[in-house]
Amino acid sequence: MFRRRRLLSLVLLAGLAATGIVACTTTATSRVDDASRLIDEGQLPPGYRDWKLISVAREENEIDDIRAVLGNDTALHAYRQEKRPFPEGTIISRIAWSYEASEENNKVFGRSRQSFVAGHPKNGVQFMVKDSAKYASTGGWGYFQFDDGKPTKDAKAMQNCFPCHAKFEAHDYIFTNYAR
Ligand code: HEC
Repeated sequence: MFRRRRLLSLVLLAGLAATGIVACTTTATSRVDDASRLIDEGQLPPGYRDWKLISVAREENEIDDIRAVLGNDTALHAYRQEKRPFPEGTIISRIAWSYEASEENNKVFGRSRQSFVAGHPKNGVQFMVKDSAKYASTGGWGYFQFDDGKPTKDAKAMQNCFPCHAKFEAHDYIFTNYAR
């Protein structure tokens, strides 16, 4: 009797665990789909700022910013596994800020031109969304730019995204490497 009851609770527990796993996977998948859908509809996906860091870069001359490249879970998984081409549902984002000398930090170092930090947001937020069927004409990636939270009005700049990224076709159109 005791053994049967224990068996029953084990079966129940296993059932609960399985439901949990299914629920978990479904939420993760639908969140990815939600983010691509929202971006395509012209909205910043909530939470993109909390995506994981892939690397940072500094652009000089007229771009003059300091930037971070972030990825959703699918992107990070592929980067860590060194998997290319990136799987469907990968989203990679580029955020950027003005590049500022920090007088406050310099005082601590006792030296000028020592510390440079991120200032105000600059040059918009960019996304690349992998959906090979939907974006077949641009190498399987959709290109998006938001300025002040709204899709950019700079149609000319949008025409330049794919031709420039196409130079990195051998890297699945992505420039940034994972900074270990
Ligand atoms: C003249 C070339 C050029 C153009 C045009 C360009 N990019 Fe990029 N993009 C780059 C380079 C180089 C990087 C690597 C990081 C850096 O130095 O800024 C990059 C990085 C990115 C990233 C991070 C993933 C990666 O490839 O490293 C995204 C997302 C992105 N660009 C989107 C866009 C979008 C959207 C547009 C059009 C509005 C665009 N880019 C136009 C050259 C370009």
